[in-house]
Amino acid sequence: MSTTTPADLFELHRTDHPVPDEERAKLLEHPRFGTVFTDHMARIGWTADGGWANRRVEPYAPLVLDPAAAVLHYGQEIFEGLKAYRHADGSIWSFRPQANAARFARSAHRLALPELSEDDFLGAITALVAADRDWVPSGEETSLYLRPFMYAAERFLGVRPANAVEFLTIASPVGPYFASGGVQPVSIWISTDFHRAGPGGTGAAKCGGNYAASLLPQQEAYAKGFDQVCFLDVAGETLEELGGMNVMVVHADGRVTTPAISGTILEGVTRSSILTLLAEAGHEVSEEPVRLDELTAGLASGEVAEVFACGTAAVMTPIGRLASDDFDLTVGDGGAGPVTVAIREQLTDIQTGRAADLHGWLYRLV
Ligand code: COI
Repeated sequence: MSTTTPADLFELHRTDHPVPDEERAKLLEHPRFGTVFTDHMARIGWTADGGWANRRVEPYAPLVLDPAAAVLHYGQEIFEGLKAYRHADGSIWSFRPQANAARFARSAHRLALPELSEDDFLGAITALVAADRDWVPSGEETSLYLRPFMYAAERFLGVRPANAVEFLTIASPVGPYFASGGVQPVSIWISTDFHRAGPGGTGAAKCGGNYAASLLPQQEAYAKGFDQVCFLDVAGETLEELGGMNVMVVHADGRVTTPAISGTILEGVTRSSILTLLAEAGHEVSEEPVRLDELTAGLASGEVAEVFACGTAAVMTPIGRLASDDFDLTVGDGGAGPVTVAIREQLTDIQTGRAADLHGWLYRLV
């Protein structure tokens, strides 16, 4: 008996001009984050009258966009980030994509975009990875980054939710997010001039506007010689998140604290997975306000042992230095701490099939 899967609903239109094998092999050798894209993209259209229709995988190509398309004017757009990993037996798996599908639906709701079903989300990534399976790299610290996104395509300048929307998924073979590499510590500038989100805003939604707002402070952090920026709450008292990843603090007694989900930070899938692994490893984990004054005092006294960034792209990246207008502190000895290294290894071992998936987190794509 044959059963139809969500991926079967996507009609495959293969490109006549795939990247030649030799060129693709070269591109997969050292893929720099977000610079190389595969041969195809998955796509579904939506209209207020017709709903979701025309599911397809088609050649990767520039989009046709009307200059009056609402997304270009009012930023009605959301996206997701997840990865496909090649296992030793050649099979290809994704990590908790149902959680990304659920967050995508929450983001859509906040941006007044139509909700995409979990089936369509999973169908799109599965059909795309099946078509572009040769693009999934197999090297250490590599994967195929999947970027589902949805935008308001209607040609209309009035300010209201669009009646025509496009959903696409593109794929990009990637290595580590930070140029320094997977477990090399990064330096973080804590911004006191700018905030990423406020209560009732869009901080918990994965929408382009949040990232656009982070660019100027990020640019300022770069100009001061730092790798990333960290945002504080609107009162300037507690840590929120970095420009595209969550943050966690490991205390010398083994306790781990991380900013609580409060509507102003992204509900990271990697964040929640790490909290589970930490708790299972015997760490007391606490989602609570992380006060900047307590963090700096803890770093100075040695009560704070490790700080790390986490996210799909960043995985777990140790933070070796934290600074702002009135302090400049080294975290631990400035290197990658043992808790960060151990949990990172556990997480990536599960993702890449080197360790058993005891939580049912993996989802087979190919
Ligand atoms: C991710 O970790 O997937 C992100 O979306 C963060 C960044 C690359 C925008």
